[in-house]
Amino acid sequence: MSILVTGGAGYIASHTLVNLLEKGESAVVIDNYDNSSPEALRRVKQLTGKEIKAYEGDACDEELLVRIMHENAVESVIHFAGHKAVGESVQKPLKYYRNNLDSTISLLSAMKRCGVTQLIFSSSATVYYPEDEVPFREDMRLGCINPYGWTKFMNEQIIRDAAKADPDLSCVLLRYFNPVGAHPSGMIGEDPSGIPNNLMPYICQTAVGLRDHLTIFGNDYNTHDGTGVRDYLHVCDLAEGHACAVRYARSHKGVEAINLGTGVGYSVLDMVNAFQKVNNIPVKYVIGPRRPGDLDASYADPSKAERLLGWKATRTLEDMCRDGWNWQSKNPKGYR
Ligand code: UFG
Repeated sequence: MSILVTGGAGYIASHTLVNLLEKGESAVVIDNYDNSSPEALRRVKQLTGKEIKAYEGDACDEELLVRIMHENAVESVIHFAGHKAVGESVQKPLKYYRNNLDSTISLLSAMKRCGVTQLIFSSSATVYYPEDEVPFREDMRLGCINPYGWTKFMNEQIIRDAAKADPDLSCVLLRYFNPVGAHPSGMIGEDPSGIPNNLMPYICQTAVGLRDHLTIFGNDYNTHDGTGVRDYLHVCDLAEGHACAVRYARSHKGVEAINLGTGVGYSVLDMVNAFQKVNNIPVKYVIGPRRPGDLDASYADPSKAERLLGWKATRTLEDMCRDGWNWQSKNPKGYR
């Protein structure tokens, strides 16, 4: 039996593959390499010494999904594939709705046709109603402020409705907070195309000299130092969370939404300072205006993950900064 990983060459997916293969699971990948590189999969193979069968194709292609499920005795699916740039989703909402919703619908339909019943979905903390008090708990109300977020919200609803109609389904909706860092080997990591939108890759690219300076988006937030606070978690902890969710889905029916975060918030300045200290390298920054749509603070209540999955993040902020820089300094241009 194998686990189908959609968008398997991506940042979180490649780390999850390493974790699964090291646990003796077998995995098969579908990826169209739209925003990822087949080199990531080559390195996963090198790191683990295990084979991964990869299909180049679109996760919206239901017939291809059915063929993959049949050819590989697929038991469960981890669905990572999707567009993920918040800003682009505001400019091109239809692109986001078409791709991110169609892939989930095609996948659920292919699963039904093939008798595959276990699904782990890559959701996001962005589904939480932005004005609610942190920490975010899974039973709090939801509401988004950009099309990317709404695709996560709508996909969660589509999966819930599919599970309501089919009591055999086991689905885990993993709401990630802010994944950062890289595998400690420095062989795989985050490789954003173009100018990074997210803080950690921007810090890394500034430190390596690809960007002149980091702009901190606002220092007048209601936080301990005025800069935005987020729940950063090491991508290897996040990968472990997926392995726990796969195990959970094997023995539970129905749908559970589960936060994956540390429960601790750090500010932008905390991140910059920790990065400089751990790696002994300067990061030039300036304070700029707020970025529209940003919250003062976002962090998880991670207790449900511990209760249901037996999962808890163990890596520190120092680990995140060290491993992120190790990847960036060894691969200044990512996989290229
Ligand atoms: N930030 C900067 N400068 C930058 C980039 C970011 O100051 O160049 C700040 C932001 O203002 C924010 C913090 O760093 O305070 C984190 O920003 P990120 O863009 O790294 O992360 P976000 O929390 O905005 O977004 C992330 C994911 C989204 C997801 C969201 C869920 O990128 O996909 O978490 O909460 F939807």
